[in-house]
Amino acid sequence: MMRTRPLKVALLGCGVVGSEVARIMTTHADDLTARIGAPVELAGVAVRRPSKVREGIDPALITTDATALLKRGDIDVAIEVIGGIEPARTLITTAFEHGISVVSANKALLAQDGAALHAAAGQAGLDLYYEAAVAGAIPLIRPLRESLAGDKINRVMGIVNGTTNFILDKMDSTGAGYQEALDEATALGYAEADPTADVEGYDAAAKAAILAGIAFHTRVHLDDVYREGMTEVSAADFASAKRMGCTIKLLAILERAADGESVTARVHPAMIPLSHPLASVREAYNAVFVEAEAAGRLMFYGPGAGGAPTASAVLGDLVAVCRNKLAEATGPGESAYTQLPVSPMGDVVTRYHISLDVADKPGVLAQVATCFAEHGVSIDTVRQQGRPDGGGSEASLVVVTHRAPDASLSGTVEALRKLDTVRGVASIMRVEGE
Ligand code: HSE
Repeated sequence: MMRTRPLKVALLGCGVVGSEVARIMTTHADDLTARIGAPVELAGVAVRRPSKVREGIDPALITTDATALLKRGDIDVAIEVIGGIEPARTLITTAFEHGISVVSANKALLAQDGAALHAAAGQAGLDLYYEAAVAGAIPLIRPLRESLAGDKINRVMGIVNGTTNFILDKMDSTGAGYQEALDEATALGYAEADPTADVEGYDAAAKAAILAGIAFHTRVHLDDVYREGMTEVSAADFASAKRMGCTIKLLAILERAADGESVTARVHPAMIPLSHPLASVREAYNAVFVEAEAAGRLMFYGPGAGGAPTASAVLGDLVAVCRNKLAEATGPGESAYTQLPVSPMGDVVTRYHISLDVADKPGVLAQVATCFAEHGVSIDTVRQQGRPDGGGSEASLVVVTHRAPDASLSGTVEALRKLDTVRGVASIMRVEGE
């Protein structure tokens, strides 16, 4: 039977995502009511700038006092789309203290304080949902947490940042350098004026921490995620990748160790073969490739950012949380029972593409090969070519290795840099997805 008393929602933040959430709640009110089994009402909207015109939102709902909105006693669900650590963290905690379930899109906060927030929600018998925090509209957290709850996930590899994928795709398709592609991304609104969070991999690392915790039923903090940005990726790297039948993506890679006793979580640019499904993810799209023991390989693909796509994920969570409220139940909370340690980057085993500028004279190749051998890194292929700038005394040497621990590779590179005949290490890139 349909309940007539509405479930009341406090919207905390009304920017690009919040305004879309409010719009969809209004325009789809009847469908949401039918799906939930009770009307759902926007009861207050907390903003920083009350004078801003917000089309479609009753000005009487606007307040600058988010805390008072949460404390007024009639709110059932809070939607936090403010972003950042504070005041979002305090507001979410306040919501739990006042019996209010929370839907959040806040990856930075969840990656940093997810454990404490889950504990607070659990103690209060409330929900904390955050599908929108990772890869925008793409259903990912619920499939990992619920649909695959009976399976064992061994690996998650994803493109979880649209800005960097747009830049890398431009470099790949036009031969542009990093700066030129970034400028285009900025002009088209894909990159922010300060792109640091995206291009240095911080945004992807937060998403990686959240996904790793859910996929492996353990706790992975933002600080556990190894992170390298993509600002050093060059047009020459793309040319090398092409020669290998690869492209370059900024990847979040989460793996369970072969012995099952630990996990790794990392974000860095990597070459992947053109035949890999992630290689065909173009422009600002996101995609996450999941390898599970019974299910096999799954790929989730779609828009990873933007007001309406992110609002879609928020609204999905709102419906779920409201249904739980009506059933006087809560959905799944944190599952961290495996308590697997997160291994350092040095333990990660993968392949490498290393480009060296070397003296072009007898014995150099042997010297370089010895360096790899001494560090236990086995070479797969070597390609040497005279430098295009002529000279004749220098050559470019590209070495692709078999799988080896990252620490062994670092040791190799350190030793290579000390060789007189190695004039420079032009680039080191991991090779994934084979
Ligand atoms: N800035 C992010 C991206 C979207 O480019 O994918 C929000 O996480």
